[in-house]
Amino acid sequence: VRIYIPRDAAALALGAEKVVEAMAGEIAARGLDATIVRNGSRGMHWLEPLVEVETAGGRVAYGPVKASDVASLLDAGLISGGAHPLCLGKTEEIPFLKRQTRLTFARCGVIDPLSLEDYRAHRGLLGLERAIAMQPAAIVAEVTESGLRGRGGAGFPTGIKWKTVLEARGPRKYIVCNADEGDSGTFADRMIMEGDPFVLIEGMAIAGIATGATKGYIYTRSEYPHAIAVMSAAIEIARAAGVLGASVLGSAHAFDMEVRTGAGAYVCGEETSLLNSLEGKRGLVRAKPPLPAHKGLFDRPTVINNVISLASVPVILDKGAGYYRDFGMGRSRGTIPLQIAGNVKHGGLFETAFGLTLGEIVDEIGGGTASARPVKAVQVGGPLGAYFPRALFDTPFDYEAFAARDGLIGHAGIVVFDDTADMLKQARFAMEFCAVESCGKCTPCRIGSTRGVEVADRIAAGIEPEKNRELLADLCNTMKFGSLCALGGFTPYPVMSAMTHFPEDFSPVPVVEA
Ligand code: NAI
Ligand code: SF4
Repeated sequence: VRIYIPRDAAALALGAEKVVEAMAGEIAARGLDATIVRNGSRGMHWLEPLVEVETAGGRVAYGPVKASDVASLLDAGLISGGAHPLCLGKTEEIPFLKRQTRLTFARCGVIDPLSLEDYRAHRGLLGLERAIAMQPAAIVAEVTESGLRGRGGAGFPTGIKWKTVLEARGPRKYIVCNADEGDSGTFADRMIMEGDPFVLIEGMAIAGIATGATKGYIYTRSEYPHAIAVMSAAIEIARAAGVLGASVLGSAHAFDMEVRTGAGAYVCGEETSLLNSLEGKRGLVRAKPPLPAHKGLFDRPTVINNVISLASVPVILDKGAGYYRDFGMGRSRGTIPLQIAGNVKHGGLFETAFGLTLGEIVDEIGGGTASARPVKAVQVGGPLGAYFPRALFDTPFDYEAFAARDGLIGHAGIVVFDDTADMLKQARFAMEFCAVESCGKCTPCRIGSTRGVEVADRIAAGIEPEKNRELLADLCNTMKFGSLCALGGFTPYPVMSAMTHFPEDFSPVPVVEA
């Protein structure tokens, strides 16, 4: 019998290691014929650590499990999926999971992340095998046709980016995976790296074959030690099995890769700053053009894609562009892994076709706030994303629909706030974050963010509020249009949305002295 206990960082943070220790001890003491498999997470944070057991009728889940529950779980017949107060029934039938469309995350939490056999048994490497049999231009055309857009946040068509690199000339080309997942409330990249690392390896190898690149780098963050460990181990396994190396799966294509770790700057998630960091230089933003697709890593043509963009490629090659394209709405095709976080009852990863409304996501899937107080605001797209009030909950999850309402979906992080949130403080926080994380290259961001903090403080102190609100809006305008990259250019989104949708928080009632 296989008992699954996640090795994912979220499960570890909630005590998974102690559960494993207790389970291993009980299995030995009772002489049970059971093996513990360390899987990735299914993405239901409120149920972690989620323990699953394989039964003839499918997997049965228990959670959240503490080490002290293990003995009683085994007494109740956990091995055969027995009843227990922590039993959640069949894993696949848990409503949060059942409502999802898992294409990119199909294997996450299901397989042993470091078993290539498990990976193959769940349609792993079929996309790469098909790509090997195709011409590079045909692979690029398939990705273009699928409608896949950059899941890091900007939503640029992946196929067009690949075409630019395919057509660029250079003695060497690179695939760089942006795994510097810095947005607040996001964890999709980490979950893939910890729960299904071979899908990222497969996606990068396909990108290499499609564009003529032979070397790949995964640039990730030092805050992700577990992801780094699993990813590095998976690369070794893939290399030993001939998935990577001089002859990818016995073909004429060479492709290899390695993991590189950043030092903690948010701006190193910006692609050109990331390239500088990867080259061993300071993480300063480069002016574009030239685009990385023409002149990227070490001045060579480079594909830079987010983890989720690359991890979505294998299923597209395996099942065809049309299959992927059939999901979604408008120009947002396929699925998106929503990451629901903040003050919310059911936080976690929810992969679904584009098009659910923000209200459905927060109220129905997330179950409202964890504090049981009314939802006041939802920040979508990380620290540079806009705050949406309940009045905008009819916005469908789609790149264009969010842009039309002065927001962005970004990397699909959704952070929920209840009615105790002070939106002026949140606006100040955005400016402060920008001041701390600015790379310093351009004035509107470097100086503007510090001035922004001061102006927000003056509004909070009730000093000439009307004049200072106008000044804040003016400053946002300068930052939006005068900054070199998205850090300075997008900081106005949280600030302006807070001021527009929650004006009452920007008109503090003057303190009347007794
Ligand atoms: P961008 O719009 O400048 O570029 C998007 C991508 O398309 C880039 O890779 C760019 O090189 C490429 N591109 C543009 N035109 C091209 C062409 N003609 N041919 C080939 N490639 C082309 O956006 P940027 O600055 O790269 O990203 C901004 C986004 O990043 C924001 O929307 C924000 O949501 C997101 N973001 C994500 C974070 C995360 O943790 N995932 C953190 C911070 C921001
Ligand atoms: Fe650097 Fe900020 Fe300018 Fe971006 S906007 S280049 S982070 S100073």
